[in-house]
Amino acid sequence: MTRQHGRRDFLKIGAAAVTTLSIRGKPLAGAAAVVKAQALDKVRIGMVGIGSRGTVLLRILLGLEGVEVRAVCDIIEDRVAKGQGMVTAAGQPRPKGYSRSETDFKRLCETEELDLVINAVRPWKWHVPISVAAMTAGKHTATEVPAAETIEGCWQLVETAEKTNKYCVILENCCYFRNVMLVHNMLRQGLFGELRHCEAGYQHYIGYGRVSGDKVRTANAYPTHPIGPVAQWMDINRGNRFDYLVSMSADGTRGNRDADINTSLIRTVNGQTVTLYYDTRLPRPYDLIYRVQGTKGIYSATLDKIYIEGRSPKRNTWEPIDEYYKQYEHPLWKTWGEKALGRGGHGGADWMTIYRLIRALQTGAAPDIDVYDAATWSCITPLSEQSVARGSSPVDFPDFTRGRWRTASPIGIIGA
Ligand SMILES: NC(=O)c1ccc[n+]([C@@H]2O[C@H](COP(=O)([O-])OP(=O)(O)OC[C@H]3O[C@@H](n4cnc5c(N)ncnc54)[C@H](O)[C@@H]3O)[C@@H](O)[C@H]2O)c1
Repeated sequence: MTRQHGRRDFLKIGAAAVTTLSIRGKPLAGAAAVVKAQALDKVRIGMVGIGSRGTVLLRILLGLEGVEVRAVCDIIEDRVAKGQGMVTAAGQPRPKGYSRSETDFKRLCETEELDLVINAVRPWKWHVPISVAAMTAGKHTATEVPAAETIEGCWQLVETAEKTNKYCVILENCCYFRNVMLVHNMLRQGLFGELRHCEAGYQHYIGYGRVSGDKVRTANAYPTHPIGPVAQWMDINRGNRFDYLVSMSADGTRGNRDADINTSLIRTVNGQTVTLYYDTRLPRPYDLIYRVQGTKGIYSATLDKIYIEGRSPKRNTWEPIDEYYKQYEHPLWKTWGEKALGRGGHGGADWMTIYRLIRALQTGAAPDIDVYDAATWSCITPLSEQSVARGSSPVDFPDFTRGRWRTASPIGIIGA
């Protein structure tokens, strides 16, 4: 099958999206972009999903100034009680609890006066309905990963964010890793020359329990942790765009089951490539790879080493990265690194993620990650699934920005 085939299929999907949008009386082209919201003194929050991740996020939120957790929701009553207990223990009034049913989040969104609804629910099928309910009720929303499981779900998020003028942020904590932000800073300062290729992967041995707990997918099933940082390094949706991908799954002779390993290759319109792995079934040490190849040098998180031509002491030989932190540490990490490390998991990245979101709402700045990123990073699962099913044919990425990627500015080096 050819690339043309992939394009035709994409047009079909696009057509489905257009129909969906037209039915709701909204043309696909010309929809307004989400504009910056006004600064908030206090950020009033509703938290949906008080499982293991929700508890981590709630703890971080309760440690920040100017945050009030007004409502908590989970289908398990004890978890609601646990969330309420955490909030009162932090000295805030007891938040209202919601646990009547799987859709009680709607009541939370519709009845509470909130600025932001955060969703840390599993299974993932609830992520889109919760985000849409929040935005429709006039609240910003932040969703745990992935933002959506289907292309239609991705479009629904984009369409709702544009229609309601509310933020829909994906809580992609890997974008805030210290090494990821160091590399971002170095890329912007031209140390690697022009960026040509990245390699990244969700390589985390979980075994045969499902990552999502939902359906069987022979696909790149958990792409946002590896692709989030790569997309930011490559200015995706901000002067660059993922063009198409091809994908292949290894599953031995078993077939019709989740891929043991999925390998996807992505090409950008600016002529770069990405190799993206999904590898959670087979015994292996944890490794997200994060390899960056530019015209002047290379970085490897796996090796924790770097080589910059003309700067590294020995020609074509890796050197340790440590010295580079002295000169190129990201400004955010310089200011907040110690606090982040002391307060949150994933090497401080969890704290940075929440801090940056709340800070954006408090200052009236645009969040670092927007609905177009949420859609573009999340859609890799269904796109890779399509490619695998068609013998690794190329499949085009939808342009969720509808052309705005051409004029959008890169997020730049985030200040503190
Ligand atoms: N960013 C990260 O590093 C990271 C790490 C772990 C998990 N996650 C993501 O966080 C999310 C939650 O994962 P987890 O490990 O905390 O799962 P979990 O099973 O521990 O918690 C999920 C919670 O959601 C609740 N829930 C389910 N359906 C609900 C509904 N309809 N309404 C309200 N509550 C509902 C469950 O009762 C449970 O308490 C997932 O999307 C997962 O992919 C992200």
